[in-house]
Amino acid sequence: MVDDLCVLGIETSCDETGVALYHGRQGLLAEALHSQVELHAAYGGVVPEIASRDHVRRVLPLVQQVMAQAGVTARDIHGVAYTAGPGLIGALLVGAAIGRSLAFGWNVPAVAVHHMEGHLLAPLLEQDPPSFPLLALLVSGGHTLLIDVAGVGRYRILGESLDDAVGEAFDKTAKLLGLGYPGGPALAALAEQGSPTRFTFPRPMTDRPGLDFSFSGLKTCAITTLQRAENSPQTRADIAYSFQEAVVDTLAIKCRRALRETGRRCLIVAGGVGANRALRERLQEVAAQEGCRVHYPRPAFCTDNGAMIALVGWLRLRAGIHEPLSIKATARWPVDSLSACDEYCSTAQAR
Ligand code: KG4
Ligand code: ZN
Repeated sequence: MVDDLCVLGIETSCDETGVALYHGRQGLLAEALHSQVELHAAYGGVVPEIASRDHVRRVLPLVQQVMAQAGVTARDIHGVAYTAGPGLIGALLVGAAIGRSLAFGWNVPAVAVHHMEGHLLAPLLEQDPPSFPLLALLVSGGHTLLIDVAGVGRYRILGESLDDAVGEAFDKTAKLLGLGYPGGPALAALAEQGSPTRFTFPRPMTDRPGLDFSFSGLKTCAITTLQRAENSPQTRADIAYSFQEAVVDTLAIKCRRALRETGRRCLIVAGGVGANRALRERLQEVAAQEGCRVHYPRPAFCTDNGAMIALVGWLRLRAGIHEPLSIKATARWPVDSLSACDEYCSTAQAR
């Protein structure tokens, strides 16, 4: 029975080692995450070689941990899903090599999962999941994508960032405000103390048609504002507020436009920046005004995790999609080149 499939998921594309077990009937059985934030903090950003080495240390103990937590043995696992890209190639290779080897040793199929498909489908892990077709806003450290989603694997990119991804813009702006790495959550916290009226930043590319984004100018705007004003804690909080407000407003304008253009009635928001409270609140308002529903994963499943990889592995495995005896790891991989799993589009079937 395909519904009884149990899949182990391994995520190692960047600076988090995530491992989880997903079961078709019982849902998420167990998940564990190790964040490398402390290792990279001293360098102000992710150091790829340090990331790869730490994944080597962490993956197998985390696999043993989730198997013990779920009370399953290798015999209960029907497939191993690993993140095959996009991401840091050395980091990806660790999860890919270990995942493929476990699958080989256990004599089960391996599934090479696209990291952004993981983010995109993460809302399916929640109660009251979204149903297809829908519009997806993916906002992470490496990507800003507006995607028209007809079903699992049927993705049409409507808009993307022409320069910095949203998370990258948060991180770079946080750095120049003197905040640590990762900057997104720190900038969001500082923005809470900022004045809504002192500075107004532009809403890039909203005054012309289209759904692409550009965020690098906002970082420049933050630098010049900081240079002109006196560099006090209040000024930095005011800049954080105006930066976040400009990002949130820009994303909201483009989501509203995309909902109207596609006629979709359901919006999902995922990826690390999807954990941002101001963004979640604003998109909730936009969706309500447009007569649509908005779905988010819980904040812990907005950022990188193994659960979303296990879920996608299960969805693809049950559609009969898996890898030959080769290790797949690719730093660049367009999300609109994936194969469709049409028959598994409906949410009822997905859970
Ligand atoms: O999805 P993710 O964990 O990793 C990638 O696939 O890139 O996203 C990480 C990004 C980082 O840029 C981080 O600063 C940002 O998400 N982020 C946030 C928040 N939480 C994480 N940005 C703004 N507000 C947050 N609360
Ligand atoms: Zn991610």
